[in-house]
Amino acid sequence: MSNNFKSISFDNDYLILINQTKLPLTEEYIKTDDYERIALAIERLEVRGAPAIGVTAAYGVALAFKNNQQNKNEAFTKVYNRLAATRPTAVNLFWALEEMKKTFDANSEQDNIYQILLEKAKQIHQDDINMCDAIGRNGLEIFDKKSVVLTHCNTGQLATGGNGTAFNVIKTGFENGMVAHVYADETRPLLQGSRLTAFELEKAGIPFSIITDSTAAFLMKQGKVDLVVVGADRIAVNGDAANKIGTYNLAVLCKHHNIPFYIAAPVTTIDTGCPTGDDIKIELRSKDEVLKIKDIQISKPSYDVYSPAFDVTPAGLIHGIITDEGLFRYPYDFSEIRPGKNNR
Ligand code: MRU
Repeated sequence: MSNNFKSISFDNDYLILINQTKLPLTEEYIKTDDYERIALAIERLEVRGAPAIGVTAAYGVALAFKNNQQNKNEAFTKVYNRLAATRPTAVNLFWALEEMKKTFDANSEQDNIYQILLEKAKQIHQDDINMCDAIGRNGLEIFDKKSVVLTHCNTGQLATGGNGTAFNVIKTGFENGMVAHVYADETRPLLQGSRLTAFELEKAGIPFSIITDSTAAFLMKQGKVDLVVVGADRIAVNGDAANKIGTYNLAVLCKHHNIPFYIAAPVTTIDTGCPTGDDIKIELRSKDEVLKIKDIQISKPSYDVYSPAFDVTPAGLIHGIITDEGLFRYPYDFSEIRPGKNNR
């Protein structure tokens, strides 16, 4: 296993994605120039995490034009609709597709439309790298002492085009002597914490322990957690935030134990068209993801399952939202933010 890995890269007209379903035991890459394969990778969570999905979809749109100059409008509608149908909750996907649409609409008559769309996708990727760096820097403000941090799901390099959101707050904090230890929620059912966050913490040399999701309350009761920081898939205008199922549990626990609960996300995760958390569509996943672990059946296939991939934490439970444009405090006012303003 190499020490460094790239979750998303573009090389020689191919998109290369690390296959996250195989981690941490196997580092395997998917190399493709086929947008249908990219759509499948998003649906299967081979690539996942809100910003990473957006960046990947942007490359997918460009690749639809690599070998195709025929019926450009029809081709664009097809790739846009296919990618938009992959996962409903992370707004970064729809934000990136809209950015690609603006570029397509302004240039659809050009012969080099593939190159133009590719440049735009690369810019979205680079902007995401910059936003992650800014989130890491802005997040330093939340540490007032060397802290023990609890996190949920995976929000690092694997989940973004850059160094991560909540993960980068932790990593930057660690590099600045402000993080002593990390508790990583295992994150049932797909184990993004015990597989992916653990993988990234190990690579970053940050001391950590994996806990089952149900251990958080007991840890907090013992005074072993100083703060919680997690990511988001969509933030409503009032600050309600959708994130991996189990996040809301943590916010309620933090309130009970008087522990600060933070969200970290780029401004592209704020949905200016979504007034409250009630307006966020929550993805339901297949029952197999609960009744099986990988290919091993662990409960009866006939049992009914309810498996929402995300929940919504009410704004009032969120101590602060760390973005690339700074740290916002409740009551939230995002009227000054304009996602993507740096690339227009
Ligand atoms: O279903 P997933 O693994 O795509 O869910 C990911 C999360 O919930 C992350 O916390 C969120 O996308 C933020 S990633 C920087």
